[in-house]
Amino acid sequence: MAEVIAGVGTSHVPAVGAAIDNNKQNDPYWAPYFEKIEPARQWIAEAKPDVCLIVYNDHASTFSLELIPTFALGVAAQFAPADEGYGPRPVPIVQGHPELAWHLAESLILDEFDLTIANEMAVDHGLTVPLSVMYGQPEAWPCRVIPLAVNVVQYPAPTGNRCYRLGQAIRRAIDSFPGNERVVVFGTGGMSHQLQGERAGLINTEFDLAFLDRMVGDPEAQAAVPHIEYLREAGSEGIELVMWLTMRGALNPKVREVFRAHHVPTSNTSNGLIILDHQGEP
Ligand code: DHB
Ligand code: FE
Repeated sequence: MAEVIAGVGTSHVPAVGAAIDNNKQNDPYWAPYFEKIEPARQWIAEAKPDVCLIVYNDHASTFSLELIPTFALGVAAQFAPADEGYGPRPVPIVQGHPELAWHLAESLILDEFDLTIANEMAVDHGLTVPLSVMYGQPEAWPCRVIPLAVNVVQYPAPTGNRCYRLGQAIRRAIDSFPGNERVVVFGTGGMSHQLQGERAGLINTEFDLAFLDRMVGDPEAQAAVPHIEYLREAGSEGIELVMWLTMRGALNPKVREVFRAHHVPTSNTSNGLIILDHQGEP
């Protein structure tokens, strides 16, 4: 059977993608961040997952106010890069896994999670930056990717609890897929940041570090946190963090923290990267 081997939580800051695309990793502003994340890249180079299921949000690249799916699962064979405003990043086309994606669609919908099925979907920095964070600049992405887009842009977004329960259902779905795929689930976005209004530039390191601790040790408590607390403590775009709970829901209740990096700031954002595995944990 297919298997979830680990979870990755990461920010998806567009400026990190631009730094990689323009070879600025050694610039004084960026070098400390890229030095910190190097062990995570070594980890994934050794773990070699077959599939990365990436829970991310679209930023008006594929979807717009005309159509706002709460959860959209990409079942296509390929997903082209795109980005609002700046145009697509110069990164490889993302290769999908239609068989596993359709199994997920069937299992999740029959498990009463009413997903939108996307036969065509471009993927923006929300998905491509996490791939670049983990894999750098390969000729082709070394894994197949299943995109799961979550609406955290237009009110009302799903609750953290709904995202967490969806992760648990994703785990049941992957556990029942008759293949031998080793899957890493990514939860992306955040951490604290606000891009507009009077509180633009807000960063709350205390909240972010407590969030990382709860991702490891008390995800049920984090799942119960209401939207208003994310908005108040982590800023309007800090709501992106609910997507990390889907990743956490797909892991065992007990996990091992394999890696953690936290760096402030990258662009306007407090940047977090965590790897959790559950080998040998109940
Ligand atoms: C920034 C962060 C985001 O999550 C995003 O989608 C756009 C910009 C930033 O920090 O600049
Ligand atoms: Fe974002």
